[in-house]
Amino acid sequence: MSKVLILESSSRHQGATTRELAGYFKGQWAQRFPQDAITEVDLFDDQVRFIDGDTIAANHSDGKDLSDKQKAGVAYSDRYIQYLMDNDVWVIGAPMYNFSVPAVLKAFIDQIVVPGKTFDYSTGVPKGLISGKRVIVLTASGGNYDNPPMSAMDFVEPYLRAVLGFLGVSDVTFVKVQGNHPEQIEAGKIAAKQAIDKLIVGEKVGV
Ligand SMILES: Cc1cc2nc3c(=O)[nH]c(=O)nc-3n(C[C@H](O)[C@H](O)[C@H](O)COP(=O)(O)O)c2cc1C
Repeated sequence: MSKVLILESSSRHQGATTRELAGYFKGQWAQRFPQDAITEVDLFDDQVRFIDGDTIAANHSDGKDLSDKQKAGVAYSDRYIQYLMDNDVWVIGAPMYNFSVPAVLKAFIDQIVVPGKTFDYSTGVPKGLISGKRVIVLTASGGNYDNPPMSAMDFVEPYLRAVLGFLGVSDVTFVKVQGNHPEQIEAGKIAAKQAIDKLIVGEKVGV
């Protein structure tokens, strides 16, 4: 049995490719593994808060004698960390916004990358504290970033691989829908859904 976490970050509720793919993933996974729990967290609806000074100070303290504001900041970030710890498979809907991830997803990352909880820097060498997770990133972009010179502008895949790797998570697969024209999007979604079908049965894919 696995526990699955689906994180959404598109600002769009209508016509969002990443939301359609996440919905497809959820339906197919539930059909194949009906006993598995699936938790959905909508980072856009949550309007994830920017990390603030109180939380940062608390994260870098010994955790004793925290002010009420610091305790509240830690509780807010802990809630998101708990979702990650509780689930074995993370599905991240990550549209490309201005060559990177949407601000709510970045805000989420700032809340969950916490010293002593998700990574350790105490020896001077970074060590991820999360292990055993499988991540599937569902991404969509208007342009195509497969080849130079556009590939240099893709800060979605390299960034997410870097930050997940920093936390100790290296089993990361990207499923991409690229292109602006309706036919490209439709063809991309068909290929992406085929990739999702394979991922659900444990096959490797490269989309
Ligand atoms: C605010 C915003 C910024 C965008 N920036 C880019 C971009 O830098 N490069 C790109 O190829 N597409 C860009 N797009 C297009 C989206 O990546 C594309 O519409 C994608 O399908 C969005 O994901 P969604 O359909 O799940 O909402 C942008 C769209 C929006 C709304």
